[in-house]
Amino acid sequence: MKGILLAGGHGTRLHPLTIGISKQLLPVYNKPMIYYPLSILMLAGIREILVITAPDALPIFQRFLGDGSQWGLRFTYLTQERPRGTVEALLIGRDFIGNEPVCLIFGDNILYGHGLSGKLQEAARLTHGALIFAYYVGDPHRFGIVEFDATGRAISLEEKPAHPRSHYAVPGLYFYDCHVADYAAQVRPSLNDELVITDLNRIYLERGELRVEVLGRGVAWLDAGTHSSLLEAANFVQAVEHRQGLMIACPEEIAYQRGYIDAEQVRRIARAMGNNEYSAYLLRLAEEPPAGA
Ligand code: DAU
Repeated sequence: MKGILLAGGHGTRLHPLTIGISKQLLPVYNKPMIYYPLSILMLAGIREILVITAPDALPIFQRFLGDGSQWGLRFTYLTQERPRGTVEALLIGRDFIGNEPVCLIFGDNILYGHGLSGKLQEAARLTHGALIFAYYVGDPHRFGIVEFDATGRAISLEEKPAHPRSHYAVPGLYFYDCHVADYAAQVRPSLNDELVITDLNRIYLERGELRVEVLGRGVAWLDAGTHSSLLEAANFVQAVEHRQGLMIACPEEIAYQRGYIDAEQVRRIARAMGNNEYSAYLLRLAEEPPAGA
């Protein structure tokens, strides 16, 4: 399975923070925001990743992420001229996707919690249809919302409804089969002229090919799209990391644990970073055998 990291858009809800820098590169405590969704793809076992950015942000993303080889990954970069909607990621990525299934994740989605790696690896085995997730939230009018019938079957999907039919929001993480670009081409612009991901997911729902998996309370799904939620996300990461002494979404750690890179490469990255808490963490990590070993 391949991965697409969507990191375009104007980030207007975070102005003035995002006037000069992409939202997905803003810090969430000790790492750029994009490390969090990137690590979700890595935990799913996905190594070939298309990064989609706004044209002017491309060189900055390339400086942050490189070609991926430092983490045993392979990045391809493409740009989205204008933010015409999230579905466009699959049209821009059509050739990249080819005949393979693909996982799309938005560059501002942060997921963390018990059992998540296993769920992601299972999801990455998808070959037919689509798989999305559902997460209970207090403010459902801000998201794509899925409604279930009494047997737990998904029966409707709506984007930011004024009168939500449920509290189950759909996080910005989607697994699709190899037909997704064809279905994406059928999506028509919404009222505000955007190609909305919920309309693509509804195509799979209507074909009877959509699976929806509920993420329980043991998982935290944070969005960092407003000033308050950005700070909350940073506080959450800081609190968990400080308590456990383990990092959330450290690409070097995941790559090392998965055997994509060796201890010497972890040390090389740490040395290039200079003296700080992040590099000290990496140096400690390189002294331990990888968990998968
Ligand atoms: O975060 C989950 C939610 O993401 C879902 O529940 C909604 O169904 C889905 O539509 C989306 O809602 P948002 O309001 O968060 O969408 P937004 O327009 O902010 O786009 C999500 C990310 O995609 C954001 O990081 C910016 C990026 N983006 C967005 C658009 C419209 C692009 O790169 N290009 C675009 O054209």
